[in-house]
Amino acid sequence: MATLSDALDVEVARYPTKRLADSAQHLIHRYRTGVDPASVVLDAEVTAAAYAAYRMPATHAAVTAALAEVAGLAPDFRPRTMVDVGGGTGAAVWAAAGVWSSLGELTVLDQSTQAMGLGKRLAEHADSPAVRGVRWQRAALGDLQVPPADLVTLSYVLSELTDRARAATVRAMATATLAVVVEPGTPAGYERIMAARDELLAAGMRVVAPCPHSGGCPIPRGQDWCHFAARLGRSPLHQRLKTASLNFEDEKFSYVAATREPWPSAPGRVLRHPLKRKGMVSLRLCGPEGLNDTIVSKRDPAAYRAARDTEWGDPWR
Ligand SMILES: C[S@@+](CC[C@H](N)C(=O)[O-])C[C@H]1O[C@@H](n2cnc3c(N)ncnc32)[C@H](O)[C@@H]1O
Repeated sequence: MATLSDALDVEVARYPTKRLADSAQHLIHRYRTGVDPASVVLDAEVTAAAYAAYRMPATHAAVTAALAEVAGLAPDFRPRTMVDVGGGTGAAVWAAAGVWSSLGELTVLDQSTQAMGLGKRLAEHADSPAVRGVRWQRAALGDLQVPPADLVTLSYVLSELTDRARAATVRAMATATLAVVVEPGTPAGYERIMAARDELLAAGMRVVAPCPHSGGCPIPRGQDWCHFAARLGRSPLHQRLKTASLNFEDEKFSYVAATREPWPSAPGRVLRHPLKRKGMVSLRLCGPEGLNDTIVSKRDPAAYRAARDTEWGDPWR
């Protein structure tokens, strides 16, 4: 079975490691310092390859985690068509095809032919016929018409757009049955997710996840931010490019998923790593009534067992 990591090992290994490492360090500096993110353009083959090698495993893990949460709430949802807006090298199409085997028609829209060229070569290694058959379409976001689809995704793109293009792009996603926006799990990424959430609600959608409601976010702004984490393994090349010693990392991400269809939402969401102590578990929850710190004790054996198995980001019933 060819995973995304296998595909990256084959396709990215075509470039000299030193050039990849230099490009990756350049991108890391740009993303970390936040200097004009729009200038982080994947306009050369080696830059697209460096992006894919050092960031794509993480964006793939984050999008997989977000989509899996949404899928877990509605097991009857069987999307057939998907559009990934600003899809670049295709992390989200790999993620979605891994979550929903029903997907058959996938389209990636992006401005970078270099990123999509690499995405196409990576996709040729996929087991999923849907990923192998992705339509890669050049498009500039802003005044974009998103073609009708069951699922539309936008991952790690908003920071590269102007405010006007952000709002217009998110609004254009609201024709889908399910729209999912994913951003880095930083205070700034969370703010962009909050703005996207407002746009989707204004366009008549309802929030499916992570929020158990479509009301205002109860998290005190400026003091905390809603985010989650996805663990992923690092390949030896990934480790070298990041000059990292650990063979895994935790990708922090924020997301919002919204729909126009009836959709079961979680009664509550676990917002932090549960604190598990002898005989009790402390949970920080978001629910329709706002934030709530709950202690589940052994005196309620069923709830205690459930709480012991619960992780950060899970729904809480
Ligand atoms: C950080 S990458 C994210 C790629 C992919 N969505 C992922 O999660 O790995 C941002 C992508 O947005 C694309 N992009 C940025 N501004 C754009 C614009 N105005 N029109 C079309 N694509 C754009 C870039 O070319 C790049 O592929």
